[in-house]
Order: sequence, then structure tokens, then C-alpha cells
Amino acid sequence: MSEPAPELLVEREGPVLTLRINRPAKRNALNANVLRGLREACDAARRDASLRVVIVTGGEQVFAAGADIGEFAAAPGVANAYRSSEERARTWDALALLPQPTIAAVAGYALGGGCELAMACDLRLAADTAIFGQPEIKLGLIPGAGGTQRLPRLVGLARAKELVFFGEPIDAQEAYRIGLVNRVVPADRLLAEARAWAERLAALPPVALALAKRAIDAGASAPLPAALDLEQMAFAALFGTADEQEGVAAFLERRPPRFTGG
Ligand code: COA
Repeated sequence: MSEPAPELLVEREGPVLTLRINRPAKRNALNANVLRGLREACDAARRDASLRVVIVTGGEQVFAAGADIGEFAAAPGVANAYRSSEERARTWDALALLPQPTIAAVAGYALGGGCELAMACDLRLAADTAIFGQPEIKLGLIPGAGGTQRLPRLVGLARAKELVFFGEPIDAQEAYRIGLVNRVVPADRLLAEARAWAERLAALPPVALALAKRAIDAGASAPLPAALDLEQMAFAALFGTADEQEGVAAFLERRPPRFTGG
């Protein structure tokens, strides 16, 4: 008998890692196995200096339909719920804190934890088939791993409250209009566009990208003076990198830079 397909497919192509959630029969619901796979992939990615970009994606019909509601029913109670939401939050944090830029490539449903997972990535590319939502209220719940926090930081308090209170989904164009996604592309171009972005990012200086990411993310939850200090220190630290010397030299010599990651 053949082995069942893994629920998280991990594909490496040059400097780009693609993590593909693969539970179509359960609409890519984020069970403990998928979460563990995402964390393990992030742990390996963090240590891999040759890896420059991570893409997180799902299937053509579903990115991820949220937390595995079956697991809620199988392990009821406050303590289990706390453990499972903590596990999802820890997984999204593992992605959010990667030094490499991350891209969510979303086709079809990104609901509940699926929307939270996409929001834990740095950039979101949506297929024109994408549908986003935080429907937890309809289960008598609220988002439990970032939906009440990352969503308002992306789209503002009023729109976040509308999405969380009513629990109604929005389509890709509306997600673009409110700033939840960076771009909307035809569904049949989604992965090609994600790879094109990944390749552009892979050619840029990785330490500068990592520090830009940290300055933006850590600065967003710090008071402005501390955030500006962080930015200045990160800016100054980059003068110790070979890529800064190459970037400046290439500009002065009127040639394209060749960044090496040093
Ligand atoms: N957790 C566990 N299983 C899920 C799931 C979830 N979040 N979402 C879908 N599934 C399962 C269904 O139970 C069903 O399993 P079964 O075939 O063994 O009965 C299977 O996936 C197909 O689901 P179905 O609802 O029939 O698919 P659909 O294509 O008609 O609808 C969705 C797709 C995503 C709109 C719908 O499944 C849905 O609303 N899911 C829940 C979304 C949600 O509330 N997420 C927040 C969780 S906190």
C-alpha cells in the first residue's frame, strides 16, 4: 500500500522554500500535524543561510479553513483550548520571526486560523478566487491566534471589528481594498507571481531585508522614540556588511550590485 501524502509539503527550489498545506479532504484545516510541520520547517529555515525566501501556500480551492474544529471536539475544555491556540500562535510566531521574508500565496478560502496564518507572513498575494474571513464568532468564539491583533494592525480597528464581529468573508478585491493583501493576481498565475517575488527578494541583500523586517515589525509595537532608535541602530549595523559595501560601490561605479549575503 502506498504511503499517504504528507499533510505539509516542503519543497526547496534554489534559495526559495515553499510550504504547501495539503489536507484537501479537510479543507486544509490546521491540525497539530500541519502546525508541527510548519514549526519544524521554520526551525530549519532559520538556521539555513542559503535560504532566502519562504512561500506559504495551500491548494487551488483552499488555502486553509482554520483551526481543526474536529480537534476542538475531540479535546474539549479550557485547558485544551488554551494549549491549542498557544500552539497556533507559536507556529505563526515562528514564521513571523524568521529572518527571511515570507510570502503567503492564497487561493480559495483563508478562514480563521488560515487568515491568521496568511497575516503572520510579511507579504500576501491573493488569487482572484481568494476568500478571507474570521468566522469564529459563528462558533461562539473569537480568533485565538492573532486575528484580533494582526488584523487591526493591517486594516485598522473599524474594519477589523466588522470582520471579527460579523464573521462574514470578504473576497480578494475587498481584501486588497482594505489593505489585507498586497496584490491580487489571476488564480492561474498565483504561484508564478509568488515565485517571481521570491526571486526578486532572493537577489536582494538578506541581512538588510532581515533588519528591515525586524525594524518594521518590532517598531510597530514600540513607542515611536524607541522604534526610531531601533531603526537607527539597524541602519548603522548594516555598514558592517559586505553587501552594503557592494551596494554603494556598485552605485558609484554605475553597475548592478552583486549581493552575496555577507
Ligand atoms: N476543521 C476541521 N474540519 C474542517 C474544517 C475545519 N476548520 N473546515 C472544513 N472541514 C472539513 C469538514 O468537516 C468536511 O469533512 P467531512 O467530509 O469529513 O465531513 C470537509 O472538510 C469538507 O468541508 P465542507 O464544509 O463540506 O466543504 P465546503 O467546500 O462545502 O466548504 C468551507 C468549505 C471552508 C467554507 C467550510 O468547510 C467551512 O466553513 N469550514 C470552517 C471554517 C471555520 O469556521 N474556520 C474557523 C475555525 S475556528
